[in-house]
Amino acid sequence: MNKKKEIVLSGIRPTGFVHLGNYFGAIRNWANMQDEFDCYFCVVDWHSLTTHPDTKELKPNVARLLSELIGSGLDPDKCVLYIQSDVPEIAELYLYLNMLAYKGELEKTATFKDKVRMQPGNSNAGLLTYPVLQAADILIHRAVKVPVGKDQEQHIEMTRNFAERFNYRYGEVFPKPYAFNYGEALIKIMSLDGSGKMSKSENQMNTIYLADDDEMLRNKIMKAKTDSGPTMPNAAKPDYIQGLFNLMKVASADEVVKKFEADFNNCSIRYGEMKKQLAEDMIKFITPIRARSEAIRNDDKYMMQVMEQGAAKARASAKVTLQLVRDAMGFKYY
Ligand code: TYM
Repeated sequence: MNKKKEIVLSGIRPTGFVHLGNYFGAIRNWANMQDEFDCYFCVVDWHSLTTHPDTKELKPNVARLLSELIGSGLDPDKCVLYIQSDVPEIAELYLYLNMLAYKGELEKTATFKDKVRMQPGNSNAGLLTYPVLQAADILIHRAVKVPVGKDQEQHIEMTRNFAERFNYRYGEVFPKPYAFNYGEALIKIMSLDGSGKMSKSENQMNTIYLADDDEMLRNKIMKAKTDSGPTMPNAAKPDYIQGLFNLMKVASADEVVKKFEADFNNCSIRYGEMKKQLAEDMIKFITPIRARSEAIRNDDKYMMQVMEQGAAKARASAKVTLQLVRDAMGFKYY
């Protein structure tokens, strides 16, 4: 008998180049989940309007992001890869969920507070209800696993709350979704100067993009913040050093990481040597991803087919959930 696979959903905003935080925090898991689960991955163009109201760059940004997702290993025949605005059912579910979300909890959301600080002239209602739209993205497919980085944890918790409130009020429609990262804690990739998480709005020299060429990668990694090294054996690592080790763990061979860990622990580490090694390993890691993305980006026919196919499959799933929602709520007058 064919056991039904668990449903997975995740999303990414088309607001800039894909960076290593996106890749190691989320996309790498997405690629690994495609065979095991029933996966939906969404380019959330509506969400990007909360911070980027100008839509002129949307088309090239969406094309670039899609090509980078496919270049990173997503297979549009194994997962449903689609664009949020192709699925209007999400907007209807967003409307219903908005009635179950409280102003107080939305105002307390960490990402809302951050964004208001960053763009004080544009505290729009979409920014306030951002987590509600994200909940609609997840719940529209009745997903249970949401592979995301650490920064999205609070949003997934809010999604669970909205789902529970809906079920309590109107009847059981939604399973409870959880943030997911293959059995480990959720990941946070630090920016190269160790000042915070790597992000699309960070200083570009502190962020490594999948689109960076070899020279740029070498340059950025060699400039990453270090210090004169530990003065005591087995010392705790400062954040920016831990960040470099984390990157090394994902891009370099185990023996290489072990060697530099040992060097750190016996105070003989040479950070110049470590960064050189990391740069070369990162180049080896990123080059094939960049090449695959570039190869498909300008293939309009292929890109269009991917978008159409994704939209059709995502809508079919969304329609089923929305009908359950409408039935549960009693929108049936004749
Ligand atoms: P976004 O576009 O900012 O990021 C996409 C994914 O990348 C992860 N990420 C990181 N992980 C580790 N370290 C970092 N430095 C880092 N930076 C980014 C994010 O955690 C995310 O998983 N609100 C979401 C988009 C979204 C969504 C959804 C996600 C909309 N609807 C439904 C999941 C489910 C966001 O802004 O991601």
